[in-house]
Amino acid sequence: MTLSRLKDFVQETTRIMDTVDGDRARMNATRPVLERLVAHDDWLPEAFAQPHPQFYQQYLLYCDPQERFCIVSFVWGPGQRTPVHDHMVWGLVGMLRGSETSTRYARDGQVLRAGASATLQPGQIECLLPEDGDIHVVNNALADQASISIHVYGANIGKVRRHVFDPGTGAVKEFISGFSSEVLPNFWA
Ligand SMILES: [Fe+2]
Repeated sequence: MTLSRLKDFVQETTRIMDTVDGDRARMNATRPVLERLVAHDDWLPEAFAQPHPQFYQQYLLYCDPQERFCIVSFVWGPGQRTPVHDHMVWGLVGMLRGSETSTRYARDGQVLRAGASATLQPGQIECLLPEDGDIHVVNNALADQASISIHVYGANIGKVRRHVFDPGTGAVKEFISGFSSEVLPNFWA
């Protein structure tokens, strides 16, 4: 296992946070670093790749001490999906294993309209920026196996107050996602 790939990601992304200002610029600068991380599926420890029979899992892999970014392993069991939600901070999704579909929603007052869908294959990246419209629903595109994507957000996403939307009524509810595990991988060993 080459956990040094995760360490390299953390070191490079920390440098970006130290030298680049602004959400869009930080997202754009981090994108190629995440692309390099998800180009190889040989580094994610088993403990952070485990699906749950009922719920998609969000395993924190690292959080910057100043909470300028975090990296999370999302593990989707067959048929699992998110509610319609936003993020409130910039984000990047890198497909590591399997496949997932993201369907965008446009919000016009109280009305939500489903927009384009994109299905990610391993190595591909999706960008999320609130000012560009980041409301979406994500589902495992595979009916018979788990899928895993690696997410980077411009904050400690487990603590961010954000929103879920009822696509039928447009009703908005606040939520805080938290994380699925109490432990993080040790890439210093
Ligand atoms: Fe999302």
